[in-house]
Amino acid sequence: MNMTLHTLDQEALGSLLASLGKAAQDYRFEVAPNPCVGAAVLSGGQVVAQGFHSAYGGPHAEVVALEAAEASEVPRHLWDTLVVTLEPCSTQGKTPPCVEAILAAGIRSVVVGSLDPNPRHRGRGLRLLQAAGVTVHLLEGFSRLEDVSPHFLRWTADERVRRPRPWVIAKWAQTMTGQLSPPADVGLGRTISSIESLAEVQELRANVDAIVTGVGTVLHDDPRLTVRAPASTDTPPARYILDAWLRTPPDARLFQEPGPGESGGPVTILCLPGSNAVRWRALEEAGARVLRVRGEDRLHLRLLDVQQLLWLNGHRRVLLETGPTLLRNYLEGGLVDQIKLVTAPIRGGRGESLADWLQEARLKQPRMRECGADSVMEAFLSVNF
Ligand SMILES: NC(=O)c1ccc[n+]([C@@H]2O[C@H](COP(=O)([O-])OP(=O)(O)OC[C@H]3O[C@@H](n4cnc5c(N)ncnc54)[C@H](OP(=O)(O)O)[C@@H]3O)[C@@H](O)[C@H]2O)c1
Repeated sequence: MNMTLHTLDQEALGSLLASLGKAAQDYRFEVAPNPCVGAAVLSGGQVVAQGFHSAYGGPHAEVVALEAAEASEVPRHLWDTLVVTLEPCSTQGKTPPCVEAILAAGIRSVVVGSLDPNPRHRGRGLRLLQAAGVTVHLLEGFSRLEDVSPHFLRWTADERVRRPRPWVIAKWAQTMTGQLSPPADVGLGRTISSIESLAEVQELRANVDAIVTGVGTVLHDDPRLTVRAPASTDTPPARYILDAWLRTPPDARLFQEPGPGESGGPVTILCLPGSNAVRWRALEEAGARVLRVRGEDRLHLRLLDVQQLLWLNGHRRVLLETGPTLLRNYLEGGLVDQIKLVTAPIRGGRGESLADWLQEARLKQPRMRECGADSVMEAFLSVNF
């Protein structure tokens, strides 16, 4: 693919691609399993505006950059080039195809850093742009997917595509001793995180397709698993309870109507074949859908089957918000792709600690930061790299 580089030489474009790729990575935990992507609109060799894909299901980098260019003082007819780290999408996903947005903006040349790794889409976006008369230049080596979005390469790898399962984000809060429940006299014996961390949980819930928890958490905490302030969404995540023997109480708060400004997805309870029919009916009457899943050692639900069921129900990005029993089984089963671990300045605690698992865990692209009084660590897990 050719382009006459009127205004910028290859070296300058390469370093722009590299810097866009680096900045795009800042959003890796917000967008995964989607790729990290950065884009810039140029006019006469000058960057008019930049944009990044910054939220799962949110607008793509090209669209954000074009919108930012619209808000700039440089009029549209002077935009000559769009630089983007990954081939623009050409099909309708959660958002309309970027190729259409680029053509609608009247961009005459596009510089792309990497081709789409998916064989079904690879090169298609570029061919559509060329067919519409746009000059396209593929400038590989500066924003390689291996560097910018290794998680996306795994997500689109043959083996994962052949046996699909959702992207799982495990989020948990721990005390300084690594325990998931605080001492009885702290946070009503339930809450570990600061207000700021709890607010982030709401943002995370608003950006997943489903939330999964175990019946132990329902019995101990009676959570709602809804999306509420400061976040909001018109499509709240579906709620799944892993409950082999239908111990979930029909009067659990999960079944209550969400309050003002709060939204909750449908509740599904997964149980083992042979569960009590009376409890089943009571839970259905309370508003749940109850489904059977195969068992593991006739004890617990088989997590691989749970994952498959979630996938078949259309859930791609799933949040695991659960206690130590189910969390450990998910982690040790290699079914978690990404973790968000909140450590609060609380001494002691109750219940099992996952410190042993953490010590052995091979974390990829970790990020440590503060949130209120808590320390937050986010990372991808190397089992999937
Ligand atoms: N700090 C945090 O982030 C956090 C988050 C949530 C909960 N918690 C705390 O965790 C405590 C509850 O812990 P928990 O370990 O009992 O709760 P849990 O992990 O949420 O639930 C465990 C239960 O899930 C069911 N389950 C179904 N399939 C399973 C599978 N394949 N593997 C494992 N479990 C499966 C089992 O009950 P059945 O055999 O009956 O199905 C099991 O006893 C509470 O004190 C709560 O406050 C802390």
